[in-house]
Amino acid sequence: MLEDSFGRQFHYLRLSLTEACNFRCQYCLPDGYQGPSSDQFLSANEIQTLLYAFAELGTSKVRLTGGEPTLRRDFLDILALTANTPGIERVAMTTHGARMAKHAKAWKQAGLHQVNVSIDSLDPRQFAAITGQDKLKEVLSGLDAAVEAELEVKVNTVLLNDFSDARLNRFLGWLKEMPVTLRFIELMETGDLPQFFTQQHQSGGPLRETLIENGWQPLIRRKDAGPAQEFFHPDYAGKIGLIMPYSKDFCKSCNRLRVAANGKLHLCLFSEQGIDMRDLLTHGDVEQVKHFLVECLGKKHETHFLHEGNTGATKHLAMLGG
Ligand code: GTP
Ligand code: 5AD
Ligand code: SF4
Repeated sequence: MLEDSFGRQFHYLRLSLTEACNFRCQYCLPDGYQGPSSDQFLSANEIQTLLYAFAELGTSKVRLTGGEPTLRRDFLDILALTANTPGIERVAMTTHGARMAKHAKAWKQAGLHQVNVSIDSLDPRQFAAITGQDKLKEVLSGLDAAVEAELEVKVNTVLLNDFSDARLNRFLGWLKEMPVTLRFIELMETGDLPQFFTQQHQSGGPLRETLIENGWQPLIRRKDAGPAQEFFHPDYAGKIGLIMPYSKDFCKSCNRLRVAANGKLHLCLFSEQGIDMRDLLTHGDVEQVKHFLVECLGKKHETHFLHEGNTGATKHLAMLGG
């Protein structure tokens, strides 16, 4: 069992498969990223060792993330090996979604349950300006295919300063019929983009008020729920979530650990440098990896470092998959 010194239990692993991405989101990788070559990322064998160790310690949910995880040629194999790991009951992925229309069904067949996709605007021009890719149409078709394949779908929208009532209303109109959960995420400060944060960060508080005034009701949180606050509305097929990392007590419900594509364990999205476990994974002894994980967990801090005006070691979220 993975439990830290604050009594939090960790059943959820977020595993980044690559730091590379072919989108250029303003808040993440605006100038692109010449990361390490793909052979520096964990191999399928190393991933298998990692997953067995986590699963034997009680991990039941794994999210495959990146960068863009589907850029790996062996993505489908890794998805299948994740789904086939004894003890892993739920497999999720985070993707930009541009290739999902073609692949959603195959992903479902390989064992995927849940997919999270970014859509920062439903206006094609604004979408292209934010992501550097004129691909809203492809992403929306991908969402339809995912719903059709009976995947649970969540959509992420980062709240930027220019987020307007018009943009919100367009999202709300869309959610009337669309059975997805739309999550508004407060922009987080990363090491590479301190100025962007100063210019663009907006609190989710006012949006929360607007939603409540418009009849959105908070869902009762499940005991094992992560940090998003969720809302429903009887007239809407979709739900809304708010991810407000700067709000009080955000970290109290932390239920996830992260492993970066280079094999470093990160106890928090925003804290210290990752802890290198590559040699252990290459060696392939599951018991040793388990022992190491339990030992490391004792070092997890109570909250992230964002409030102290620094960003820890996190340069951009593609490093760690959010
Ligand atoms: P599910 O509950 O599995 O759907 O996961 P999720 O809400 O964490 O999914 P997703 O990968 O779409 O994450 C959305 C974004 O929320 C992440 O990319 C981060 O920006 C933010 N986020 C998620 N978890 C944390 C966390 O533990 N700490 C912080 N600071 N931000 C988080
Ligand atoms: N702040 C908040 N969210 C971010 N994401 C990427 N960078 C940031 C940031 N600096 C989100 C994207 C994507 C998710 C994985 O992380 O919207 O959906
Ligand atoms: Fe790529 Fe996701 Fe970063 Fe956008 S947020 S650049 S889609 S890794």
